[in-house]
Order: sequence, then structure tokens, then C-alpha cells
Amino acid sequence: IKKIGVLTSGGDSPGMNAAIRAVVRTCAFHNVECVGIYRGYQGMIEGDFKEMGPRSVNNIVNKGGTILKSARSKEFMTADGRKQAYQHLIDAGINALVVIGGDGSFTGAEVFNKEFNFPVMGIPGTIDNDIYGTSHTLGFDTALNTVVEAIDKIRDTASSHNRLFFVEVMGRDAGHIALNSGIGAGAEEILIPEEDLGLDRLVESLKRSKLSGKSSSIVVVAEGDKIGKNVFELKDYVEENMPEYDVRVSVLGHMQRGGSPSCFDRVLASRLGVKAVESLLEGKTNFMVGLLNDKVALTPLTQAIKGNTEVDRELLRVSDIMTT
Ligand code: F6P
Repeated sequence: IKKIGVLTSGGDSPGMNAAIRAVVRTCAFHNVECVGIYRGYQGMIEGDFKEMGPRSVNNIVNKGGTILKSARSKEFMTADGRKQAYQHLIDAGINALVVIGGDGSFTGAEVFNKEFNFPVMGIPGTIDNDIYGTSHTLGFDTALNTVVEAIDKIRDTASSHNRLFFVEVMGRDAGHIALNSGIGAGAEEILIPEEDLGLDRLVESLKRSKLSGKSSSIVVVAEGDKIGKNVFELKDYVEENMPEYDVRVSVLGHMQRGGSPSCFDRVLASRLGVKAVESLLEGKTNFMVGLLNDKVALTPLTQAIKGNTEVDRELLRVSDIMTT
């Protein structure tokens, strides 16, 4: 392998830049050329490439977002699109790829590898933490800190006005952000896609908490929660059933995806970037590099995409006990 391409794809996450930097510098360390591919697979289809050396990634370890930009490419889902992408890689002399992204990006990498026998290595970058084969995805820790900081602020005003707040956090299919930030911020209830609490139990629990002497409450809701109502409908339902509560909603939205990465995410990105490049140079392909029991480890891409990423049941129990 003489030249490695690196791209970021799907929803961005804090730590992606630190991972790009690690990939570029590890390539330089091993005297391998490195090419940045802009806008994920879309840039691969369009041949939007830039040679990168160790100095082209100065001062980005602390930056949120991704200097390579990101996209969710529909064209790459077609055989035609992938063929064009392959041709551009060949023309540029690129013979291996590091893909930084989530499960959609890894699915693309797998298909591409099968079609063209092209070496690929994944680095998990998504705030959702919904990838099998790593205890932490890049950006998860930073997003948690962002959410906890936001909820702490909401708590101040909630308690001044004796209000109940529904705070919606990201997590389309996974409750990791909601569950962890909910525990960290001392939420009264945490609603996640993996567990359907049910409206009646939610109201019962809020009534219990009121009776126990609490005058304000925070309920953290993952956007993919399966309770069957969106966060505004939840507010209406609770207001109807508990007129004694003054309820407000706060949707945190995309601020959760931005910001300077935490030290944890920067270190993780650096470790995963080094491992990704060195694994490709050892002839490995079709793996994702991740963190398992605090050690950097490889997991086959297929497993990373399809493996079970259920929330930790112990956390659910801890959360229940904390609301006593
Ligand atoms: O996958 C990461 C994520 O941030 C999800 O939590 C969220 O549902 C989604 O991306 C939002 O995507 P978009 O930025 O395309 O609206």
C-alpha cells in the first residue's frame, strides 16, 4: 500500500478532525502518501481529492466538525456511482481507504470492498454510540458533556419556576445519549427507543415524584423514543393528566453534534487513527477499529454494522434507583 485515502461520512461528530489528523500523520510516519477525500463518498464519486501531509492537519485536533466535510451520498448506493468512485481512486493511485463514520458509512465501505476487492478500514464516528465493537464512538463523550451542560442550565430555570421540562436529545435509533446524560444530569425519567415505558407509567412516576416532595423535574427523551408521541405531544398529554404541572419542552438538536472534542475523544481519535492505518499496512481489510476493554481492537465490519448495540441494562437500573 502506497497511498491511503481518508474520508468522513454521515452525520459529523466531534473528534473526526482529530482522527483525520491521526490518519494523515500515521501515513507520514510510515512513509505512505495520504489523500483527503471531500464530502464522503460523494467526493469520491466526483474525484474531489487533496493530498495531505503532516502540516496540512496542524491545529485541528481541537476542532469540531470535519475539515473534509461530510455527506450522505445517495449516488454511492448505486453500482454506477461506486464504479465512478473506484475509477477516481485508481486514477489517483489510492490503494486503501479509511472511512470515518457510522453504520451507513460502513455498509458503503463493505459493499465497495466486495465489488472491487478494495482494502477498507472503518473508524466509528457518530455521537449516537450505536456501533458494535467499540465501547465508545468518536464524539459520544463530547456530546454527553454538551448535553449535561445544557440540562444543568435548564435545571436552574426549571427549579426557579417549579416546572417540568421534557428535554429531547439526539439518538434516532439508540438511547445511549439519553440514558447516560439522563443519569449524569439527574433526570427524573429517561425515555429511550429500547424500552417503552408507556404513558401511564410515565404519569404515575411523575405523580410519585411530586408526592415525594420534588417541585421541578427533568425528563430526558431520545428523539427515537417509542412511546408513540413526539416530545410536544408528550407535554400536552402530561399537562392534561397533571394540570398541577407547568410543562416546557427543550429540543437540544444539532448543537449536540458540534463543539470542541473532549480530551477523551481526542485521545480515542488518535489511537484509532494510528491503528486504522497500521492495520491496512499489515494487509488487513474490512475491519473497524474500536475500543474494547480500554484496548484498541479490530471487529469485522459486518459485525460492527449488524451487532447488537443495546443499552446497558445496569444503567437502566441505576437510573431507576437514582430517582427514588
Ligand atoms: O446519526 C447521528 C445523528 O445525529 C442522529 O442522532 C440524528 O437523528 C441524525 O444524525 C440527524 O441527522 P441530520 O443531521 O441529517 O438531520
